[in-house]
This record gives sequence, structure tokens and C-alpha cells, in this order.
Amino acid sequence: MPTRHACDLPALFKQRFGREPMLFRAPGRVNLIGEHTDYNDGFVLPAALDLVTYVAIAPRADRLINVHSVNLDSEVSFDLDGAQQPARNWSDYVRGVAAELLNSGYRLCGADVAIFSTLAMGSGLSASAALEVGFGYALLSVSSEAIDRLKLAQICQRAENEFVGMRCGIMDQFISCHGVAGAALLLDCRSLEARPIPIDPAIRIVVCNTMVHHELASSAFNQRRKECEDAVTLLSPALGGVSALRDVSLTQLHAQAGLLPELIYRRARHVVSENARVMDAVAALEARDFAAVGKLMNASHDSLRDDYNVSCRELDIMVDLSRKAPGTYGARMTGGGFGGCTVSLVSAEAAEGFADVVGPAYKEATGLTPMIFSCYPAAGAGPAHF
Ligand code: GLA
Repeated sequence: MPTRHACDLPALFKQRFGREPMLFRAPGRVNLIGEHTDYNDGFVLPAALDLVTYVAIAPRADRLINVHSVNLDSEVSFDLDGAQQPARNWSDYVRGVAAELLNSGYRLCGADVAIFSTLAMGSGLSASAALEVGFGYALLSVSSEAIDRLKLAQICQRAENEFVGMRCGIMDQFISCHGVAGAALLLDCRSLEARPIPIDPAIRIVVCNTMVHHELASSAFNQRRKECEDAVTLLSPALGGVSALRDVSLTQLHAQAGLLPELIYRRARHVVSENARVMDAVAALEARDFAAVGKLMNASHDSLRDDYNVSCRELDIMVDLSRKAPGTYGARMTGGGFGGCTVSLVSAEAAEGFADVVGPAYKEATGLTPMIFSCYPAAGAGPAHF
């Protein structure tokens, strides 16, 4: 992962576009628990990372948007007055956000834009949401439009759903907009109410990047979402008032198991049990019972692996090694799955030594050199100083 010092974004912008930019940033995220629950109207517990996407921007007098990606060394241009067609590459995130901002009635000006991210695309830390939110925040700012963070998160989610074709939930865009320094956010994905849950100084959130990203992750993701919708359709005649798996308890699900094909039952069991685990994990975090939080994280991973089938060999190896490392309370995959990252809850004293134990063992088992870091929850999108 490049560091922010690997690139002098303002200087690069000036060189390319001949003027001074304004600077903005939007963070990626790690989710502590509550996976594949957001699009089921459920609960999640993400924290914004201090790995971010930086956007340098200056308004134009015309309606052109010129975007240069420093990481990819690639540039795209499009006209805000033209019909936006997906290009099937990274630029769809920015095209989609511009199109959805216009659809929502914002009056946008053209802009020159340079983007640099310390989040690797495909690493499972929501580089795409950070790109959407950072670009949307920056474009609204130079267009002198007021920023409503919730509306921005929803517009960015819509851009990804409609324009990119990935039917993600609201978690990633919400936390990129609303992150709180030093805290994770308990988000109710139905009411969109969020409560900060401070991260105790006695624990560290450690992220391990497996360095694999399996193809078909987004088609498998959309398929999981469809299976959850199928579960609701099959359960709702028996359970009145069910509009999402959020409305179903584990007892109800067990009682109605006969209504569901085995695969759909397992998908639903993951979502329903995961929602309960999020609430239990928040209670345990607040009671400083880190061993209990760790057990819930372990159960979350096992359910994602066995019932939801979104883990992979590398994630399972990383989780197993992490659980065995001294001072680890629990470990699980984080994000959509099929590669990407794990998250471990580790005691503050043991966190320093964690990478030295897990890194070489993972390399020996897979041949891959992982990226392992402790993270401090960061604030959501806003102006940046480089
Ligand atoms: C991806 C999606 C999120 C969420 C997670 C799984 O990151 O973008 O909306 O569904 O997967 O929890």
C-alpha cells in the first residue's frame, strides 16, 4: 500500500492543471462485526480507517469533468451534460456519483480532479466507497452546494448499485461519510441511526490483508443478496410483517425451516444470527468483556465460512493463525469476502508482536506476504491537509 508521502498530490495537480487545488479526503473502513447484514436492514459495527482517498479539485467554467487517477496513471473526461454510460473501469465510480448527484437535483460545475489513495483497490477495505464519497464531497464543495452526509452516502450507494452494478448495502458509504475518531459506529441500517462505540485503549483493531482478491466477488455478492430476498419472500406468508431478514428471530427461523430450501435456510441463519451477534458484541465492548467480543467475532467468521460461503482458503488460514497468536481475543474475515482482509481484536500489549507471529506463518502457508497493521479509527470525509 503506498503511503500518503509517496505522492505530493497538490504539486502534481498544479503541474497537470496549472492552478491550485482544494483538497478533500474520504476514509476506507474495517467492519468489526455485522457482515452481510446491511442490505438486510440489519446492524453493522464499522470503523473508518486512517487509510484514505485524497481528492484534489478545482472548478471549471464549463461542464467538463477531467479526472486523473495517480495510482492507476489513468485519466478520463466526461461532460456533465452528456448521458453517462458505464465504461466498465474505475471511472464508473466517479461517473456514477456525478450522474446520481445530478439526478438528485444538485447543480454541479465542471472540475479538474486528481485522485490519490492509500487504499489498494480490491483489498476489501472499501476503496471504492472512499473514491465515491471523496469525489462526491469534493464536487459538491467546489459547486458551492451544501453537504448533507447522509444524502451523500445514499447517493454514493445508489451510484454503485445502479451504475457499477454492485448491489452493496449502505455500510461502506455511511462510515466513510460519518466516521468518528477513536470509535466504531453501531449503525442500524434500517433507521440509519448510528451510535459511536469508543474503542478502549486496552485493545487494538488489527487488520491483515491476505493479498488475494478472487474474481466473481461482485456477482457472488449479488447472488447472496438475491438469496436473502428469496428467504424473505418464502417466510413472509407465515411470518406477518416481515420485509427484511432483520425482522426474523432465530426462533422464528428454526420454526419455519421447512419453508426454505437448505441453502436459503443457511443464508438466512447467517444473517439472523449475525444481527444478534452485533448487539451482543456492542454490549460486551461496553462492559469491557473483550474475551466475549472475541468469541462473537470467531462465531461470525465461522458462520460466514460455513453458512454464507463467502470466505476462502487464504482468509481461513489468516483467521486460524491470528486466533493462535498471543493476546488475540478473536479474528474474522471483514468486508464482502472472497479475499481481502481479516480483522482481529488484540490486547494492546500483544499488538506489537502480532505481525511478527502471524506474518511469517501466513507466508509459509500461502507463499504470500501479507500486509498487517493496527488501526486507529478515523473521522469521516472532509477537507484535507496534505
Ligand atoms: C461489501 C458491501 C457492503 C456490505 C459488505 C458485507 O463491503 O459494499 O455494503 O454488504 O460487503 O458486509
